[in-house]
Amino acid sequence: MPTRVNRRWLIAKPLDGRVSEANFRWTKSTVPRVAEGQFLVHNRWLSVDPTQVLLLRRGNPPGSAAPVGEVPWSLAVSEVVESRHPSFSPGDIVHGEMAWEDYTLTDGTGFNPAFKVPDGVPLNWAAGALGLTGLVAYFGVHDVARTKPGETFVISGAAGGVGSIASQLAKIYGLRVIGIAGSPAKCDWLVREAGVDAAINYHEEDVGKRLTELSPEGIDIFFDTVGGPSLELALDRLRPGGRVVLCGMTSQYLAESPLPGPANLVQLIMVNGRMEGFLGRDFLPRRTEAFEAMLPLLRSGRLKSKEDVLVGLREAPKGLARLLSGENVGKQLLQMDEPPES
Ligand SMILES: NC(=O)c1ccc[n+]([C@@H]2O[C@H](COP(=O)([O-])OP(=O)(O)OC[C@H]3O[C@@H](n4cnc5c(N)ncnc54)[C@H](OP(=O)(O)O)[C@@H]3O)[C@@H](O)[C@H]2O)c1
Repeated sequence: MPTRVNRRWLIAKPLDGRVSEANFRWTKSTVPRVAEGQFLVHNRWLSVDPTQVLLLRRGNPPGSAAPVGEVPWSLAVSEVVESRHPSFSPGDIVHGEMAWEDYTLTDGTGFNPAFKVPDGVPLNWAAGALGLTGLVAYFGVHDVARTKPGETFVISGAAGGVGSIASQLAKIYGLRVIGIAGSPAKCDWLVREAGVDAAINYHEEDVGKRLTELSPEGIDIFFDTVGGPSLELALDRLRPGGRVVLCGMTSQYLAESPLPGPANLVQLIMVNGRMEGFLGRDFLPRRTEAFEAMLPLLRSGRLKSKEDVLVGLREAPKGLARLLSGENVGKQLLQMDEPPES
């Protein structure tokens, strides 16, 4: 039987204000043996996430050394090929914490424990719209924002992975949705395809002025996926009982020094407002609820899974860089190519 080769990226040096292929090193190794309580997966789709930048930069947990020499962590959808674990069998499709490599050995535990993907779910959806990205959008809109029909919902990073799902869900639930995004193509997609009410290109337009024009009575919810100046602008326009959902801070993940926070937090007091951060992984035990709500919407085409797909493990660093340059439109995914046998 031929020996399986495990192609993998290793972290060559910590990220220093940018992400490029020079931060990583391409290697090959042999596939590890499976011990009791472990299973081996063949990675099929990698989810490329800005959070990876944060962990590569600061180490995991935050403050520890950047993990030079290690394989970069990645959420992935993978097929179990060998198992000595009681809950996972060969042929199972799982979502979990894997790595930038063809084969990952795991016990299924971690910050985002592995779970079996229900039968019939397309693997790209399992990695994106129904992966952690989709769960964050779903529970952020439902449980954290606690949206009500008729409310005004403003979202940053609106054409990104989380943003594209959250803005469509808010629209489906009867809210008025204004998306903030970084290019004409993204704004065009938001209005024409995702069906949001308006989109603001923050590179070319005065976001504060446009928010006031589009919503003179203020906003009820600000769903923030990027952090930075739009948070302050949204706080200034928050209506009584308004909510700010802190989902992500992509604009800060590569910052050399701490960035200034919003100077107008007093607005939260004045409107009896609420600002809340949340971790999608805490909602993993409720993923069936999100699957049951979103799968029919995806199947009917009412909810669109906007994906930006790179093909081949070699492209992984490029995928990460695209998130920071804003090149990705929709969820950045990487479809794995077939590993060689030798
Ligand atoms: N809370 C949780 O559990 C959880 C889970 C998953 C993800 N997240 C967070 O959610 C956020 C979105 O993740 P995603 O996977 O959906 O990524 P994404 O939004 O698809 O990709 C990143 C986008 O951020 C924008 N961006 C990048 N650098 C920026 C900068 N300096 N200033 C402003 N915008 C910038 C770009 O969009 P534009 O071109 O529009 O600027 C880029 O396309 C991330 O911060 C991530 O860490 C949180």
